[in-house]
Amino acid sequence: MSGLVVGAMVMTSLDGRAVVVTGAGQGLGRAFATHLAQVGAAVVVNDIDRDLAESTVDAIESAGGCAVVSDHSVADAEQAQAIVDLCVREYGQIDGLVNNAGVSYEALPADEDPRLAHELIQVNVLGVIYTGLAAVRAMAGRRGSIVNISSGASLGQRMLGTYAASKGAVASLTYSWALDLEAARIRVNAVCPLAHTRMVRSSERALRNCPPDRTPEMVAPLVSFLISDLSLGVTGQMIRCNGPQLHLVGQPYLKSPILERDSWDSDSVERAFSEVFHAHLEPYGLEKRLPPMLRKWLSWHDDAERTVRS
Ligand SMILES: NC(=O)c1ccc[n+]([C@@H]2O[C@H](COP(=O)([O-])OP(=O)(O)OC[C@H]3O[C@@H](n4cnc5c(N)ncnc54)[C@H](O)[C@@H]3O)[C@@H](O)[C@H]2O)c1
Repeated sequence: MSGLVVGAMVMTSLDGRAVVVTGAGQGLGRAFATHLAQVGAAVVVNDIDRDLAESTVDAIESAGGCAVVSDHSVADAEQAQAIVDLCVREYGQIDGLVNNAGVSYEALPADEDPRLAHELIQVNVLGVIYTGLAAVRAMAGRRGSIVNISSGASLGQRMLGTYAASKGAVASLTYSWALDLEAARIRVNAVCPLAHTRMVRSSERALRNCPPDRTPEMVAPLVSFLISDLSLGVTGQMIRCNGPQLHLVGQPYLKSPILERDSWDSDSVERAFSEVFHAHLEPYGLEKRLPPMLRKWLSWHDDAERTVRS
């Protein structure tokens, strides 16, 4: 399989490929499954909401595509295995997995409910691990591509600590699996989407950042590209698409200067910050907030500017 050249355009073709999309009953997952089927893949449409999954399958079949329903939960290891088994039973193989199923809630740290945090981690982190591991075992000996759906929230976002942590875990899994699986010819990338879906509609804050014209369909071609051989050679990457914008997300790195001495005691740690690191602190979170130690210099700068202008 490779790209189809139509005029001057290269089109993804997934003819003969079998792909699992989790959480595909609505929103982004539905758009991913539909687009993958449009470009030729046979798709396992998984969602714990069976009616929604069936409606995605109906839409794919009405358009001439090939799909089958799975109503298993990714949050259970045996059910996650069953999703992949279904793909292999129906289509003889699994070539791609889109780890999309996810849940979200907002809470300030002091108001977090540990049970909700546990449930979220089960779906957003363990669900990705369970389904991913089942897919990797089934892909052994053949090429494969896994796309994990992360989020810009993985950089840190207010009110979203547990969700952000789960998406940060997905980013770390992506980098680690990409390292481990390159020799096995399985590529692993992550996508940070932004689209108007039920998840966004359930949050006033998210709605403010996501106009209704940001449809899930705008993100789907990126996912099909990453699943297809058009993206051979691309692995270990996090890519963000918010509709109009498409860009890579930088890799976390060990930042210089790296100070060295035989050992670090309280005094030397304090001096490392007051003498060196204070000038190297970084803006943090998705909103790139300046740490207070830097902010005081910025307000000095603002005051100075005001004085100059007045
Ligand atoms: N919408 C956005 O702007 C946005 C931004 C960043 C990341 N994401 C991520 O994209 C993915 C899809 O989000 P969405 O906005 O389409 O959400 P959505 O709520 O519209 O759809 C999520 C689907 O996942 C299903 N699901 C939940 N738990 C499941 C489980 N245990 N097993 C199988 N299916 C399950 C739900 O039934 C639902 O149909 C999520 O991982 C989300 O975190 C979304």
